[in-house]
Amino acid sequence: MDITFRLNGEVAQVDTPPTRTLLDWLREERGLTGTKEGCNEGDCGACSVLVTDEHGTRTLNACILFMPQLAGKAVRTVEGLSAPDGTLHPVQQALVDHHGSQCGFCTPGVAVTMAAGHLAGRTDHDDQLAGNLCRCTGYAPIVRAAKAAEGTPVPTHMRDDTPVEAEAPFAPATEDALAEWYAAHPEGTLIAGATDVGLWVTKQFRALGDVAFLNRCADLQHIEETEDAIRFGAGVTMTRVLEALEGEYPSYAQMVRRYGSVQVRNAATIGGNIANGSPIGDNPPALIALGATLHLRCGPVLRDLPLEDFFLAYGKQDRAPGEFVTGVTIPKGRGNHRVYKISKRFDQDISAVCGAFDLEIAEGTITTARIAFGGMAGVPARAAKVEAALTGQPWSRETIEAALPSMEADFEPLTDMRATSAYRLQAARNLLLRYHADLTGTDTDVRKVSA
Ligand SMILES: Cc1cc2nc3c(=O)[nH]c(=O)nc-3n(C[C@H](O)[C@H](O)[C@H](O)COP(=O)(O)OP(=O)(O)OC[C@H]3O[C@@H](n4cnc5c(N)ncnc54)[C@H](O)[C@@H]3O)c2cc1C
Ligand code: FES
Ligand code: FES
Repeated sequence: MDITFRLNGEVAQVDTPPTRTLLDWLREERGLTGTKEGCNEGDCGACSVLVTDEHGTRTLNACILFMPQLAGKAVRTVEGLSAPDGTLHPVQQALVDHHGSQCGFCTPGVAVTMAAGHLAGRTDHDDQLAGNLCRCTGYAPIVRAAKAAEGTPVPTHMRDDTPVEAEAPFAPATEDALAEWYAAHPEGTLIAGATDVGLWVTKQFRALGDVAFLNRCADLQHIEETEDAIRFGAGVTMTRVLEALEGEYPSYAQMVRRYGSVQVRNAATIGGNIANGSPIGDNPPALIALGATLHLRCGPVLRDLPLEDFFLAYGKQDRAPGEFVTGVTIPKGRGNHRVYKISKRFDQDISAVCGAFDLEIAEGTITTARIAFGGMAGVPARAAKVEAALTGQPWSRETIEAALPSMEADFEPLTDMRATSAYRLQAARNLLLRYHADLTGTDTDVRKVSA
């Protein structure tokens, strides 16, 4: 199948199977070996490339980016950062000047990520670089280089990355077309951001059979905001979710800031994070505590259900063959909503436990409680007994402490490589205490609190 896109300024036409990754193609077919293979699973950023489309320019991990996702877009690799006359990009020059490279393996990915930040005028370098692992230089010289490049002019060739007119094979353009395709291919695989599906190919070597890419399905890309609700289309990326949440739900937004890395959030969709049914996906607990409604479609039939009812058991969701997620709606104005993510690393790590809380308190009494956890059971789930122990009680530390033992009645968490069962239970109880401290004015930001 032919894919047309722009590569370092030149139009490229490629005959490719649907699950060929950009990283493999660049290195094996084009000899563009500046884009490195480190982990091949989206974790290290050594394969970072710039991708430009009608939504702008962003950095993505080429190792989990399938060729059809690029149709009509412009790609710039590290080889395309310097000007045609060989002048280094300002971020490359800054990396040289500030000794931002030792072995150099991470450096192409670092330079590409820095170029994306430079183009967008970003100065939050720690966040921007959280998805680029460097084992030997250390981040101080790299961040010094990023700071030094701030405000330097963007080279003109970096503005040449315009999308190209192209067919998009394997990619329905509308929700109707997607519904028709999926009804005819219920065994087929839907691919949204490919931050999960990519690993099925690169790590598990799975053959996917029929596939449909969702990134061209315009109907799934909208964020609709009314006076009292926000509806996210299933194809909205976590970068856009983060931007949309910042004003309304800052605590949820803070959690999303620690969701993967910039590269992962630029690809990963909210629909994919729900549909994969993972017990440790970060959106479901946050959304369940908000009382979110999930929207599904099978052929012409539309269906809504409370998100918590979607997760039936580990690996099993309430989704019929040929049915797909079209979006999710949250209410606005839930000022007591908080989300806390516990993971071994602060940035770019999967949660051991993610807790989300939303209590309604009227005249000093807890009138309703919605508490949901990821990482505590085979599915994202509400803490029903804790909620019952809180409801109708005075809003006080004593009430919270009295409810803590109910956590054990709600959950029997697993022990795995991320945490032991006992750790998870203790962390969940502590998050409830943290919620009380947070709402009663104690600073609970882990970067500010000291022992
Ligand atoms: C390095 C790295 C870090 C990560 N960090 C986090 C993290 O911090 N927190 C977290 O929660 N997750 C994390 N993830 C997991 C992953 O990024 C998320 O689950 C992501 O949101 C999945 O979305 P996607 O669009 O990439 O899904 P895809 O990989 O495209 O699809 C995932 C699954 O959902 C199905 N699917 C996708 N869209 C639909 C739809 N509309 N309807 C029906 N089915 C659909 C696919 O068929 C597939 O089964 C991380 C992944 C990586 C590689
Ligand atoms: S090779 Fe590590 S993120 Fe792609
Ligand atoms: S310079 Fe060696 S890994 Fe970064």
